[in-house]
Amino acid sequence: MTVNFAHRGASGYYPENTMLSFKKAIEMGCTGIETDVQMTRDGSLILMHDERVDRTTNGTGFVKDFSFDDIRKLDAGGFFSKEFAGEKVPAIEELIELVKDKDIVINFEIKSGIIIYDKIEEKLIDTIYKYGIEKKVILSSFNHYSMVMCKRLSKEIKTGLLYMEGIYRPERYCRFVGADALHPYFYTLRKEVIDEIKRENVMINTFTVNEERYMKYLLKEKIDGIITNYPDKLKKLMEES
Ligand code: G3P
Ligand code: CA
Repeated sequence: MTVNFAHRGASGYYPENTMLSFKKAIEMGCTGIETDVQMTRDGSLILMHDERVDRTTNGTGFVKDFSFDDIRKLDAGGFFSKEFAGEKVPAIEELIELVKDKDIVINFEIKSGIIIYDKIEEKLIDTIYKYGIEKKVILSSFNHYSMVMCKRLSKEIKTGLLYMEGIYRPERYCRFVGADALHPYFYTLRKEVIDEIKRENVMINTFTVNEERYMKYLLKEKIDGIITNYPDKLKKLMEES
């Protein structure tokens, strides 16, 4: 069965990467949650997409320059709608507490692009083991070196390679890197590519699929996971198909 990953929670309807957005996604029936992990100045893992707080909060500056206490003072809901003002930037532990006893997979995307966070892989993996959720987590990143580092730290925690453009024989690249899954942008998934990847038994979790016509195509092709801002729409199509 395809995993219905709520992208930054139910972010089509609620402020992304907030506890509200995650809770609403669960109410909508998602079976997975995708979220972005970054690190504060004092080494706390928090959930936010951008390296800067500017777009999704009332603050300004880089996550890496905020202490945890200061980032928690920001409003992470008002940018989306006044109605949601007062939502906070979640600590990773809050999401884990919400999900750990539920039949829901978490996809932690390690943000490691402009900013490289020192030892973020170690911290994330320690947190995962602390909560005993190693079997229900998949890590991903556009920084494939980060995924190699995660695999060195834990063989059993699954890893996925994010990419935007078409790669020739991505399943071979995935094996070469030692990852468990490909996390491609859905436009790269023409039928022949899907067939080649499947032939090598490599898992595919694709992003970010918000239109029903693409959801239908990917469900027909039995993709392992679909990452969407609208988990309710995907759930409905899954029930109909
Ligand atoms: O993990 C899938 C997707 O979230 C990757 O892109 O920019 O939305 O984090 P982005
Ligand atoms: Ca992401």
